[in-house]
Parts: sequence; C-alpha cells; structure tokens
Amino acid sequence: MYILSFESSCDETSVSVTKDGKYVLSNEVLSQIDIFKEYGGVVPEISSREHVKGITYAYLSALKNANVTMDDIDYVAVTEGPGLVGSLLTGINAAKTVSLNYEKPLVGVNHLSGHIYAAFIEHDPIFPSLALVISGGHTELVVMKDHYDFNKIGSTMDDAVGEVFDKVARIIGIPYPGGPLLDKIGKDGTNRYPLPRPMLHSNSYSFSFSGLKSATLNLVNELEKNNIKYEIKDIARSFEEAVSEVLLEKTLKAIKEYNIKEVVVVGGSAANSVIRETLTKGIKNTKVTFPEMKYCGDNAAMIGISAYYKIKKMGVDDISLTPKSRLDL
Ligand SMILES: Nc1ncnc2c1ncn2[C@@H]1O[C@H](COP(=O)(O)OP(=O)(O)OP(=O)(O)O)[C@@H](O)[C@H]1O
Ligand SMILES: [Mg+2]
Repeated sequence: MYILSFESSCDETSVSVTKDGKYVLSNEVLSQIDIFKEYGGVVPEISSREHVKGITYAYLSALKNANVTMDDIDYVAVTEGPGLVGSLLTGINAAKTVSLNYEKPLVGVNHLSGHIYAAFIEHDPIFPSLALVISGGHTELVVMKDHYDFNKIGSTMDDAVGEVFDKVARIIGIPYPGGPLLDKIGKDGTNRYPLPRPMLHSNSYSFSFSGLKSATLNLVNELEKNNIKYEIKDIARSFEEAVSEVLLEKTLKAIKEYNIKEVVVVGGSAANSVIRETLTKGIKNTKVTFPEMKYCGDNAAMIGISAYYKIKKMGVDDISLTPKSRLDL
C-alpha cells in the first residue's frame, strides 16, 4: 500500500511517500527555521504563506524522489491537527485537491499519532508500549496496547518540554531555535547547579516545567546580581539533567504500573542528547526506541506511517475534513 502524505501543522512543509506502513520512499521537508530566526519564534501568518509557497514543490519532489506517479498511490493522508489552523489549511487543501483529482481516498491524521509512529518506521512495536511524546507543544505519556489504541495517562500542566527548552535558551541568551542549540552547548557543560525536579515524586503522571524555567531565570539573575562568573554551558547542562531526570522517573513508574514492553521517545525534543542518554541508561529490562534524528521533528513520513494503521483500524475520512487547532489522541 502506497500512501502520499502531507504535513503542514507548524513550521515545516513536508510531503512523503511511504509503503506498507513501514518504509519511507521519500520525505521532502522544507523548514521555515531560517525565516523565523530574525523573529525569535514562529509567526503564524508568515508560516501560512510559506506553506503555500512550498507545498507544490514538496509534492512534486516527494513523488519524484520516490520514483512513483499518482497512479501508484493508494491513499492520500494529511495532518488534520493539532496545529496552527492557517498552516494546516495548506496541507489539507493540497491533500483534498490531489484526492479529488486522482480519486484517491483521503485520511486525516492526528499530528501526535504521527510523532509516535515515527518510532515505528522500519520497526515493529512491542505491545504494550509506552510513548513519551516530547515536542514543542506537547508532553504526554501514552500507553498503547495495540496499534491505534491510545490511552493518555499523563501530560504537562503548563509548558511542554520543547517549549521550556526554547524559553530557557532565551533566558541564557541562546538564539532561536533554542532547543537544538542548547543541546549543542550543554554537551561541554557540567551539571553544577541544583535546579528543581518538578513533580518528581508525585503520584500522578502529570508534568510541570514552568517552575523549572523560573528557577533557571532566578539562578541567572542571582549569579549576575552577585557578580559571580558562570558559563551558559553549565546552566544548559544542569537544566537538561533536571528535565531528563523527571522524564525518566515518570517513565519508570509507568513501565512498572502498565507492564510496558517497549518505550518509544518521540517528538522534537527526542533529539536531545542528554534525554537520550538518561533514558537509555536509566531504563533497564525494557526496550527503549528513539526515531532516527530526521524523524524527531515534524515530517510527513510519520504521518504516512500513522495513516496506514489508522486506515486499517478506522477506515478513511471524507472531503469534509477540516483543520483542528486542538485535537486529542
Ligand atoms: N536537540 C534538541 N533538544 C531539545 N529540544 C529540541 C531539540 N531539537 C528540537 N527540539 C525542540 O523540539 C521542538 C520542535 O519539535 P516539534 O517539531 O515536534 O514541535 P511542534 O510540531 O512545534 O509541536 P507539536 O508537535 O507539539 O505540535 C522545539 O521546541 C525544539 O526546541
Ligand atoms: Mg510536532
């Protein structure tokens, strides 16, 4: 089964061709990061316009690189939410146009299910599995007993992991995009500042990161007020260790309670080196899987892989599909 998939929920315009819910034949990703460097973050109106500029090229390029034509395609998939509505509209309209024109069934995919299925590219999951989704807008723990059986057991009460990386990066003067640069700088840093581990020992699976963000800001202010020399690499590293420890503890608790056989860590911040190391070393006797780096951030390949299992379990959608700014798994 060949699926052509579209992703435009935030600041990547992406089109992909995937095969049998397992193989990526092509994955064209046009990132808007360079455009948003001067603004220090995503500007929704500009993002929408950039999607319109890039979508046709991405579509043609995805078909060409996969060495297929529309005749080979069985289904058209598209991210329907959550995301920026103006951005989602471009992917959805493109997908609808192709679906109508070539008479291929249309399927809408939840962006977060896409992030989860990024871990299942050329990889068969072992159920029950636990997905730790750590992206720009979400921090969620999801138990899966089977394909497309999502049971969300916890989420963040305030900032998402990616969001807090971006905000802490700004606090210590690291330019946009904060997360990846903070990761790079923290590699040479030392975990020398005892930052809080919010909700580490709470009984719930809820996360809260805004207090950690404030604590980092207070630390920087205190150091500066007292003229104490510091290096941002050490603050970056101390912050990363605090986040990683919280993620590890909650994951270990869920593994035990739900008899988890495999943990998949997905979303933009699953690219982080300290998070990867902490979870890999800290989780024993349970398989831990991360998507390849190129599939951690937003991409259409993960949407195509997820679509395959959605079609099998729930069938397809129709042309009345609309963008949804908020959408639960
Ligand atoms: N190496 C890294 N370390 C930490 N965070 C990172 C790293 N690379 C990317 N990120 C973070 O990942 C986030 C982007 O991820 P992603 O594209 O999945 O989010 P999004 O699509 O904007 O949000 P969502 O998926 O929740 O709708 C950003 O906040 C970015 O800082
Ligand atoms: Mg995303």
